[in-house]
Amino acid sequence: MSQPDQNPKTLSDKIREDFNREFNDLSNLRAHLIVARSPLAETEAQLRGVHDLRVKFLGKKSEIARHKKMIGSIAPESRREFALAFQIVEKEITGQLDERENELNESRSATLIQRESIDVTIPGRRPRPGHLHPITLMRQRIDDIFVSLGYIVEDDREIETDFYNFDALNIPEGHPARDPQDTFYTTEGFALRSQTSTVQIHAMQRRGAPVRMIAPGRVFRRDTPDPTHNPMFFQVEGLCVDRGITMAHLKGTLTEFVHRLFGPDTETRFRPSYFPFTEPSAEVDYSCFNCGGKGCRICKHSGWIELGGSGMVHPNVLRAANVDPEEFTGFAFGLGIDRTCQRIYELDDIRLLFENDVRFLEQFR
Ligand code: FA5
Repeated sequence: MSQPDQNPKTLSDKIREDFNREFNDLSNLRAHLIVARSPLAETEAQLRGVHDLRVKFLGKKSEIARHKKMIGSIAPESRREFALAFQIVEKEITGQLDERENELNESRSATLIQRESIDVTIPGRRPRPGHLHPITLMRQRIDDIFVSLGYIVEDDREIETDFYNFDALNIPEGHPARDPQDTFYTTEGFALRSQTSTVQIHAMQRRGAPVRMIAPGRVFRRDTPDPTHNPMFFQVEGLCVDRGITMAHLKGTLTEFVHRLFGPDTETRFRPSYFPFTEPSAEVDYSCFNCGGKGCRICKHSGWIELGGSGMVHPNVLRAANVDPEEFTGFAFGLGIDRTCQRIYELDDIRLLFENDVRFLEQFR
């Protein structure tokens, strides 16, 4: 049996002193918390501190545990005093740590409850539903009119071969009409289509004749952007091929379209023009929906607004699509959707349609 090398009271007082110093430091932790900006983070940091103190002063490797293990080897007459000294300090430390831990846990729950509580009286966040782009809205109006006239809607590719973009449309290599329709090319020799007229060929090849279709879609040209031009814009193509189709059908159809889009008093005008894929060809104008033809800012004081190009499908185009020009005739037209939007909504600059400025687009809700 051995005597402890030091008085148990001195030993336990030393442990108590060490603990109290570190316990007080823990209370001052707040001042040292750099990362803990929120009350919750502070509380959690202190809880971790309490845990660490518990391990250090009461854990298996603590001074108290070490001395308790020695009890068996202490002389019986000193044993009680020795054990008591450490029991007391252990109890004190446990009490202080438990008390602090309870306080911290309560404060943590209170913060969490406050944070997670829902104030049902706060006005809800209004969802901001999206809406259709003005070009889509215009395209839908155009689609509706032609569908009600018995046309089907074709959707076709934007990347084309030279054959569909030019050759089949009677624009052979070297033809000057390729210049204003110059487009963007891929390294593999494909072209971004410069007009929706490409769909005339696809539709006739796919469906044969008779056919009545419109093809709205995106087209590309090497046009320098300015208030009325974009290098990417939207057109809608129209094609009607059947036996006995004449220019009168073309005029009647586009006149009806214009009446439905701009009102029954709107007039149409067909000006002779040239497109390699139609013969004869005509530019189509409609009387200004704003001034009724008297002249205003919208129609640039001419009384007329350009709708697009049109004409009777050239026999070479029918042939390129395997349709017999001796049996079938047809008309075709191509309208600019962006320009129509620009006129209707009085946009000074067509580029506004593609800038994606929400303040501009929200006006079309
Ligand atoms: C054509 O593209 C012909 N394919 C139309 C056609 C179809 C004629 C079928 C005959 C038969 P044009 O290059 O004129 O034609 O373009 C038609 C419309 O597209 C124009 O009236 C204009 O509204 C629009 N447009 C042309 N270039 C641009 C551009 N850079 N930016 C915006 N709109 C444009």
